[in-house]
Amino acid sequence: MIKLVQNQANPTISKYIYGHFAEHLGRCIYEGLYVGKDSEIPNVNGMRTDVVEALKNIKIPVLRWPGGCFADEYHWKDGIGAKENRKMMVNTHWGGVTEDNSFGTHEFFELVRQLGCEAYVNGNVGSGTVQEMQEWVEYITMGGISPMAEERRKNGQAEPWKMKFFGVGNENWGCGGNMRAEYYADEYRRYQTYVRQYGDEKIYKIAGGANVDDYHWTETLMKNAHWMMDGLSLHYYVHPRGWEEKGSALEFDEAEWYVTCEKAEYMDELVTRHGTIMDKYDPEKRIGMIVDEWGTWFTAEPGTNPGFLYQQNTIRDAMVAAITLNIFHKHADRVHMANIAQTVNVLQAMILTDGAKMVKTPSYHVFDLYKDHQDAQLITGFGEVPEHVSMTASEKDGVITLSVTNYDVHETAALDFAFETPVSVKAARGLVGTEMNAHNDFDHPETVTIQDFTAYREEGSNLQISLPAMSVITFTLAK
Ligand code: AHR
Repeated sequence: MIKLVQNQANPTISKYIYGHFAEHLGRCIYEGLYVGKDSEIPNVNGMRTDVVEALKNIKIPVLRWPGGCFADEYHWKDGIGAKENRKMMVNTHWGGVTEDNSFGTHEFFELVRQLGCEAYVNGNVGSGTVQEMQEWVEYITMGGISPMAEERRKNGQAEPWKMKFFGVGNENWGCGGNMRAEYYADEYRRYQTYVRQYGDEKIYKIAGGANVDDYHWTETLMKNAHWMMDGLSLHYYVHPRGWEEKGSALEFDEAEWYVTCEKAEYMDELVTRHGTIMDKYDPEKRIGMIVDEWGTWFTAEPGTNPGFLYQQNTIRDAMVAAITLNIFHKHADRVHMANIAQTVNVLQAMILTDGAKMVKTPSYHVFDLYKDHQDAQLITGFGEVPEHVSMTASEKDGVITLSVTNYDVHETAALDFAFETPVSVKAARGLVGTEMNAHNDFDHPETVTIQDFTAYREEGSNLQISLPAMSVITFTLAK
């Protein structure tokens, strides 16, 4: 029996935990989100209509851009003004392709406008100057008269945009400059000084955080700069066979399935341990842990550019998504934002495209099944949860959302929930895998889709569920 208890002290699950990340990498921005105004693919101001609609459907709350590793070699002034005059560059991290900068600041804010979400812009510390970062913030947010505001107006945008979140560098321990924690802590202090507030809204400043279990990084940043930051990031990817070999998205055995799910469960330890360090300096939990890169990272699909990080997405990815979101909910008092990597055509994508074709992945469907948890209050579960089962519950406006995942490959899990008051099931829907690598492709876009679920029995304040193997189910319950 699992008792579900609503404690008024429980945190709200920030909608920003459902954030996304779009880098100038492979076919994420170009082809995936942006096709240009002259494309035959239906678009509004260059943004793919089908992709924008799909992302709006899962209530995308925030989009991080332009990287990732790309952020620390991106010079924003190359991406403004007449497109024919924009300077080209080589995207050295991602396939060595030529970037024509046709998608820049104006295009990003147009995309954010169409999505109806918040902007999270990641600045360049690794190869950019303090002045360049300061001017970018001024260009984006200055409403009055200033050199950068005038430049923006000249380029067609009279009003400043709203930029809620700003990242001061990315992975500065690696692709963002190979810095030591001590050195980056000082750089962070210097760069963030010039991330000025030009408008009414305070910019939420995010310091570049640790890689996986680099607790020294978190300790150093918190000790030396905690009072100058609003958020501290954390990056963690699931590679079933390790960083070098990674493993295939589609071809794997049962052992690799479980390793993948267990590696997803490891996020709990990471958030707990980094959080404990943050607690030392910030017991009030003012500073958000910002997990702005997470998800599966497999070997790129055979026949594709390995630098483009294109991978298929199966019911196994759906398990990883659900397990990870459940962990973020559990730590909602500290995790203020998370951004799965990456939105379209890269790593654990929501959407895959091929020319005009688009397919929604099993991970997309998890975000769809989970959208009612956004900004809902966490409900705590007490009792023994069977092996290979992961669950979460929340409440908003008198409606309880309960999501349960069984990542066992064979066994149905019997779950018995007790609520504090009588409840009635308004909807029960979810994904059930038919095989470990069940997935959607352009010829079979609906192999894994959300279906109604009926294997449950409700009685007063009790709900019994026969949760099939390889499933993610969400219940909507009225009190
Ligand atoms: O998401 C792909 C890459 O992973 C990002 O560019 C980088 O920040 C991380 O190493």
